Amino acid sequence: MNAYDSRKMADVLAPMGYNEVDEPEGADMIILNTCHIREKATEKVFSELGRLKKHKQDAEKEDRKVLMAVAGCVAQAEGDFIAERAPYVDMVFGPQSFGTLPEMVAEATGAYGKKRIINTDFEEEDKFDKLPEETIATGPTAFLAVQEGCDKFCTFCVVPYTRGGEYSRRPEAILDEVKALRDQGVREVSFLGQNVNAYHGLNADGETKSLAELMLMTAEIDGIERIRYTTSHPRDMQDDLIESHAHPKVMPYLHLPVQSGSNKILKAMNRKHERDLYFEIIEKFRKVRPDIAISGDFIIGFPGETDQDFEDTMDLVRQIKYSSAYSFKYSPRPGTTAAKMGGIIREDIKDARLQELQALLNQQMRDFNEQTIGKELPTLFDGTPREGQLYGRSPYNQAIYVTGHPRLDGQMDTVRITGTNGKSLMGELVLL
Ligand code: 5AD
Ligand code: SF4
Repeated sequence: MNAYDSRKMADVLAPMGYNEVDEPEGADMIILNTCHIREKATEKVFSELGRLKKHKQDAEKEDRKVLMAVAGCVAQAEGDFIAERAPYVDMVFGPQSFGTLPEMVAEATGAYGKKRIINTDFEEEDKFDKLPEETIATGPTAFLAVQEGCDKFCTFCVVPYTRGGEYSRRPEAILDEVKALRDQGVREVSFLGQNVNAYHGLNADGETKSLAELMLMTAEIDGIERIRYTTSHPRDMQDDLIESHAHPKVMPYLHLPVQSGSNKILKAMNRKHERDLYFEIIEKFRKVRPDIAISGDFIIGFPGETDQDFEDTMDLVRQIKYSSAYSFKYSPRPGTTAAKMGGIIREDIKDARLQELQALLNQQMRDFNEQTIGKELPTLFDGTPREGQLYGRSPYNQAIYVTGHPRLDGQMDTVRITGTNGKSLMGELVLL
């Protein structure tokens, strides 16, 4: 979502004459887009700012001005603190307010005296209306926010506080954006939202469209070959979304975080479901697409997590068999309910549990990747990491490296998988 927001900031600033550069050296504006989801977010921002400050100071020696900004969820949560501790920062704004960047930049550089901008207002209702319709594609895959924010209030999570309540964009606006991206060569769209399967966009006729309906409408658009979405919540999983995976353009990949396999911990996390619901959902997906790749998120060492609770998580992982997953040590986040809970788990126990879980998940990833060896998979090429080499993704979201010509970049082709290093795949082009 942050990568998407950064792109949108570039789109908003383009009409003002700004364009993106690869390095901060010589830039007229530096925006640090930040994430607040896990530990040390604020410290990381200050150490990064310390490094970036040099570019502003260097420019000042040459009598050149550099605007420095902190954006995103750390800005949202700690705006005043950043402004106080980093006086060289000109603009601080949250993830809901960058649609007004032109106004903020005008004020910050104002001809009648420049003003420091601290903008952490919540305007989630019209955030998307303020963004330009024109999206500049950066390759054959495009990320599109369709939903933002969350009302779930999992006890460990800052998202409902930093990104606000759940909000769904209008389907027509999304489909127009997809068509504009398609015209620029985009073949794959990935719908984004903190809680994307809670999507319920109201169309011009006053009808509510589900994520599955949105995806099936997208599948009708010529030139779009692949549709993905992330991230989902088990409680919002609807049968029509599961069934949409029968459509050949809906990719056989699901990222469905469970966080813990222990019912006691799930309750303390306020996940609003038990482990059985997770098993039922995965079973339904596998009925529709037996080959579907399952991914998830896990938090280890949540307050009160016993050896047995952890074992329940390991057991869930063993039963599900993930193709990939993200796992984190629990870290208390400011303002969340869990941050006030007793039963804090010692750091060395968290470390040991995380290691054990990650060893299992890595083995499952290797197993998943190994079973694709020898298969011929449609691959969307999205980059040329080295001369004579192409990078692409399989339908299951595996990274594939192939020897091939750069002219195939941005195209879809069939690749025979020849090997894996556990994490990514090697393959060769199938000449049909
Ligand atoms: N501590 C550790 N991990 C967290 N996540 C969210 N909040 C926390 C936290 N306080 C993880 C969850 C979520 C992912 C985006 O980040 O697993 O799904
Ligand atoms: Fe955070 Fe996801 Fe829970 Fe919402 S559903 S509070 S975004 S972990």
